[in-house]
Amino acid sequence: MRPSLRIGYLGFGAYLPPTVLTNHDLEKIVDTTDDWIQRRTGIQERRVLAKDETILGMAVAAARQAMDDAGVSPEQIGDIRVGVNTWPRFPSLATQLQAELGAKNASASDVSAGCTGFVYAVEGAHNKILVENLCYDRDLVSLVVGVDGLSHAVDWQDRSTCVLMGDGAGAVILGAVERGGILATYTHADGRYGDLLYSDTAFETQWSTNGSGRFSTKQTIARPYLRMDGRKVYSVAVRTMVHDVLHVIDKYNHGNPDPIGLEDINFLYPHQANLRIIESVAKKLDVPLERVYTNGIVKFGNTSTASIPIGYLDPQARPEGSRRTGLEIDVAFGAGFASGAILRKVV
Ligand code: UT7
Repeated sequence: MRPSLRIGYLGFGAYLPPTVLTNHDLEKIVDTTDDWIQRRTGIQERRVLAKDETILGMAVAAARQAMDDAGVSPEQIGDIRVGVNTWPRFPSLATQLQAELGAKNASASDVSAGCTGFVYAVEGAHNKILVENLCYDRDLVSLVVGVDGLSHAVDWQDRSTCVLMGDGAGAVILGAVERGGILATYTHADGRYGDLLYSDTAFETQWSTNGSGRFSTKQTIARPYLRMDGRKVYSVAVRTMVHDVLHVIDKYNHGNPDPIGLEDINFLYPHQANLRIIESVAKKLDVPLERVYTNGIVKFGNTSTASIPIGYLDPQARPEGSRRTGLEIDVAFGAGFASGAILRKVV
């Protein structure tokens, strides 16, 4: 059964720190070259947090822009979900964001799903809005943010990861829409591959007993650096993103008298991890690159959970002056081999 309520994006926001770190800057930090980075990844530059900027600050800026765009006040927000991997504290970033915004009527939680956090968060928000409406006759408006400060999480001596990442945030407001909106979502994970892309633990505690049976502890706090076996992750990323795009279309078509195909998709927003990955996915799906978002990886590097919502507002995502309409798909893949896709209709 398809619910009559349509849920879609009401507003968009994004924030990128002003500090630009180019490949030539990186040549002075690690043993790398602009040529290697561009050939293997497509990245030209990325943004990084300055000393006085924070991950919370990026989330607040993106969220405020999305709320302004939607014409929604903080009190109207009923649910906040933040896809994030680099928030080093608890309570959650979402609760800190709630406090900063004054969104006093909202529930708030973080979503940890690697670079797919934003997709998981949108799916969760969508489903909650639907349940609240159908079961409790309550109109819910949700704020979903994808944000990561990977410059705080990479090892700046590890050239295989530090050249890839950038900082940024993107946000959307979700609520009831009259036309279009989210048509289907799909998420999946495969934790067996957890050790191919991970971050070390921040705390280590060693327990021991002395001769008299007393316990003692030794605690160390380590920087939790990101580690990745890039080559192994690469091939699974391509395969999985292709699968997820096809799967979300299949999901929408199930029992639908008016099925769609890949040829009906006007624009694809893939997670921006590597230009070669994006090109391979587009080629395997036979979607021309003009209909695929690629500028994020070139100009902002891999911003993890933020890369898709940053793309929504990137003017480079579409030919100058043109407005996006029709069917669009977001697709992401990341750590824990969590992946997923969203099929949306823009009207
Ligand atoms: O966002 C979450 C999901 N993430 C991804 O999907 C990322 C997937 N992986 C990738 O994008 C690519 O595997 C990388 C961009 C990370 C690496 O590209 P690659 O073509 O797979 O390179 P590689 O790791 O196989 O390394 C090739 C060579 C190695 O040297 P040798 O062993 O051939 O002598 C590396 O040591 O390149 C070397 N290398 C570098 N050289 C210059 C690795 N990093 C660098 C560097 N500069 N920054």
